[in-house]
Amino acid sequence: MRKITIAIDGFSSCGKSTMAKDLAREIGYIYIDSGAMYRAVTLYCIENGLLCNGQIDVEKLRNEIDNIHISFRPNEKTNRPDTYLNGTNVENKIRTMEVSAHVSPVAALDFVREAMVRQQQEMGRQKGIVMDGRDIGTTVFPDAELKIFVTASPEIRAQRRYDELKAKGQDVDFDDILENVKQRDYIDQNREVSPLRKADDALLLDNSHLTIEQQKEWLAEQFERIAGQ
Ligand code: DC
Repeated sequence: MRKITIAIDGFSSCGKSTMAKDLAREIGYIYIDSGAMYRAVTLYCIENGLLCNGQIDVEKLRNEIDNIHISFRPNEKTNRPDTYLNGTNVENKIRTMEVSAHVSPVAALDFVREAMVRQQQEMGRQKGIVMDGRDIGTTVFPDAELKIFVTASPEIRAQRRYDELKAKGQDVDFDDILENVKQRDYIDQNREVSPLRKADDALLLDNSHLTIEQQKEWLAEQFERIAGQ
């Protein structure tokens, strides 16, 4: 089988990350969660006083962006990669509602995207990678051999995120999450730089009513069809 690049794009909370992580582990590829990188930049803003009254200090961030380095290292307990911000493990800190509430405007800044896309392309130079995000098939790896665009209804996605946060012991409200999901969809699709859209050659996967097993099977078929060519 040849080594390929797999780009998985789609709306927030539609299970892209879980699906991409599981696929990468099964086929022995590297997995990169590009959303985690924008979350880590947002956490950097929160922790370093670049977010005041809900507004990002864009000029300060522009000056500091080259000092923000994101990497991934395997976590032996979870068997999945954890996100590191300038050498510190931030895997849990980047998944809070506070980060979720501020990440879209950070991810919409052109200089933030340029810096992250550069880091992502470097990570994927050798192929054998599964990367998920919003612009992987359109901007980061336009030549990826396998592109998938994932979607599910906003209510189903909000329920999945609610269950995930509750399981982690966070005190959350379903309506707040649904509102956050819808707001992020709007910003992701309407921003000027790299708006979320399906690449013309991406396969569409609506997983609203699919089980994890059905989705895995479908994904394995697509991988074998393309990598086996
Ligand atoms: O997938 P997620 O919810 O962890 O993504 C966090 C945010 O980052 C979300 O608002 C969209 C943005 N994002 C992006 O703009 N481009 C990517 N490649 C990945 C995520």
